[in-house]
Amino acid sequence: MEVDIKQKILVFFRKNAENYVSGEDISTALGVSRAYVWKYVNKLRNHGYEIEAVPHLGYKIRSSPDKLFEYEVKNGLRTRTIGKKAVHYSESIDSTNNRAYELAEAGEPEGTLVIAESQFHGKGRMGRRWVSPKGGGIYISLILRPDVGTDEIPGITLIAAESIAKVINRITRLSAGIKWPNDIVVNGRKICGILTEIKAQPDRVDFLILGIGINVNTPPGKIPPGGTSLKNETNLSVNRVGLTRDLLEEFEKDYQRFKKEGFSLRETCKGLSLTLGRKVEIREHDRVIKGTAVDIGEKGALIVKNGKGALQRVFSGDVTLFG
Ligand code: BTN
Repeated sequence: MEVDIKQKILVFFRKNAENYVSGEDISTALGVSRAYVWKYVNKLRNHGYEIEAVPHLGYKIRSSPDKLFEYEVKNGLRTRTIGKKAVHYSESIDSTNNRAYELAEAGEPEGTLVIAESQFHGKGRMGRRWVSPKGGGIYISLILRPDVGTDEIPGITLIAAESIAKVINRITRLSAGIKWPNDIVVNGRKICGILTEIKAQPDRVDFLILGIGINVNTPPGKIPPGGTSLKNETNLSVNRVGLTRDLLEEFEKDYQRFKKEGFSLRETCKGLSLTLGRKVEIREHDRVIKGTAVDIGEKGALIVKNGKGALQRVFSGDVTLFG
């Protein structure tokens, strides 16, 4: 209700951005009292919205904070399940993946979204940290409950990478690609990482947490070596709320397709791959695989041809590209 009313008041303000709108008009349109409108206008002000109030004229919105509040992300979001149900927002959290995992264990449904402005224990792949300062990044985790075996997980992570790369390429003039398994890379530098965590029975998935970290307007001094941000590459600030909505919408389309057809976006993923055709060295647990990356398999594995011409399937690992 609280989220709803804030969202509705903001929609009303923005529709009438050029004019003052009276408290009475808002209260009539929303079916609540004027005192209630006043209370929520003040709550919005406390969240950083600049709202002018002029006696006899009404309210006018002057500016909005650059925050990924749930009522901003949900506003106009054209999805059916992804980010459409519960959205859990925090200013700061240990890790959105941890929170999403707890919520999933407590039974929260597919599509539940966890968002944070910063993480003090952001998790990366292979036990690494994901540096997550406030003011510029997107840190989100989604609960998914696909009815699939654990061997399908690489395909789901790859279609997430593919939908993110597609959205970045659509809204900027950049040429983002996928470094297998699921890094999004622009001009040779990492802009986005994905961490998929699962709870599974021996052969079936109970749930999957898809964690996405993107350096959007992150200041250069706060990005680890080898990384970059959208702002760094374009010299423009990118609207994080709009980008988050675009990503959720694109991912939902591709995920629905995955649920019907399996990994049928394989060719699109191959087209966006920065790994295929390159010489690679992959560390997978305690083995090292060297060769040329020649294909992405039917379920998302990387297929590597070694010096003797033998093909090997790799399911996860850390990839170094050569040549
Ligand atoms: C990687 O490339 O190593 C994966 C990075 C994944 C980072 C995201 S940020 C949101 C979610 N919460 C986390 O703790 N990690 C993921």
